[in-house]
Amino acid sequence: MTTPTLAIVGCGTMGEAILGGLLAAAAIPADKLIATHHREQRCAELSETYGIRVIRDNAEAARAADVVILCVKPQMAGGVVRDVAGELDDTLLVSICAGVRCAQLEQWAPRARVIRAMPNTPSVIREGMTVLSGGRHVGEGDLDLATTVFSTIGRVRVLEEKHMDTVTSLSGSGPAFACVVLEALADGGVMMGLPREVAVELAAQTMQGAARLVLESGEHPAALKDRVTTPAGCTIAGLLMMEDGRIRSTLARTIQEAARVAGGLGQGD
Ligand SMILES: NC(=O)c1ccc[n+]([C@@H]2O[C@H](COP(=O)([O-])OP(=O)(O)OC[C@H]3O[C@@H](n4cnc5c(N)ncnc54)[C@H](OP(=O)(O)O)[C@@H]3O)[C@@H](O)[C@H]2O)c1
Repeated sequence: MTTPTLAIVGCGTMGEAILGGLLAAAAIPADKLIATHHREQRCAELSETYGIRVIRDNAEAARAADVVILCVKPQMAGGVVRDVAGELDDTLLVSICAGVRCAQLEQWAPRARVIRAMPNTPSVIREGMTVLSGGRHVGEGDLDLATTVFSTIGRVRVLEEKHMDTVTSLSGSGPAFACVVLEALADGGVMMGLPREVAVELAAQTMQGAARLVLESGEHPAALKDRVTTPAGCTIAGLLMMEDGRIRSTLARTIQEAARVAGGLGQGD
């Protein structure tokens, strides 16, 4: 298979993370990558930093590309896709816009094959989590190609689109929820006399270590928790305090509520 030409349309925070991942992984050569931005200065900066072609004209980029990754804000998505729809014949259109559904993308660009993707901000350091859902016209090869692209910035799962609101909440908004938990743990350390900088480092590395242990061992989190819980020890004392504060239902309901709100995003157009 020849290497596809890939265009990142609306190269902001997430677009740049995807671009950086693709180049670092040498997944696609620089001469097969195009990015767009509506501001001339941003185009020049991106071009200088990454050594790729960066232009203001979205339609020109779409015309040259086999794969278009749409990275503008959700409220801009309809306008941008309709503007370039004439250039999306036989093109794979991958949208990362929160709340924008495959059916909407297919309506705006009827001749494109559509994939909806939900990455998250740790993608910037290639520790992202991306979920992909295929539209009506995609084939296995399209999902494989999108998986290859997003694997350069972290883990990838393919799921049915009905799960996307939950995914948007759990892994899309999740880094914000995790940071609140992390900050609260660090606050406890500060309360007990640790300097803030030390407390944040200890909390962050501990959360990263616990998360990696779950992923790499494949064990249930409860089993890993039980392993550090000595009878009559300090860990069980802390755990009971967490239960008194209803932390489990608070966090689970956080995901439920954010998923409910996610269901209404991107539906203004
Ligand atoms: N950030 C996240 O955690 C996250 C996670 C998953 C998915 N997403 C989705 O990813 C998308 C991008 O998010 P982001 O955080 O990367 O936003 P962002 O930094 O604002 O990126 C979008 C970029 O597109 C530019 N732009 C606006 N109109 C344009 C046009 N007509 N043509 C070309 N470029 C244009 C914007 O420029 P200006 O700044 O000048 O407006 C901005 O730099 C959103 O749809 C969001 O839902 C974000």
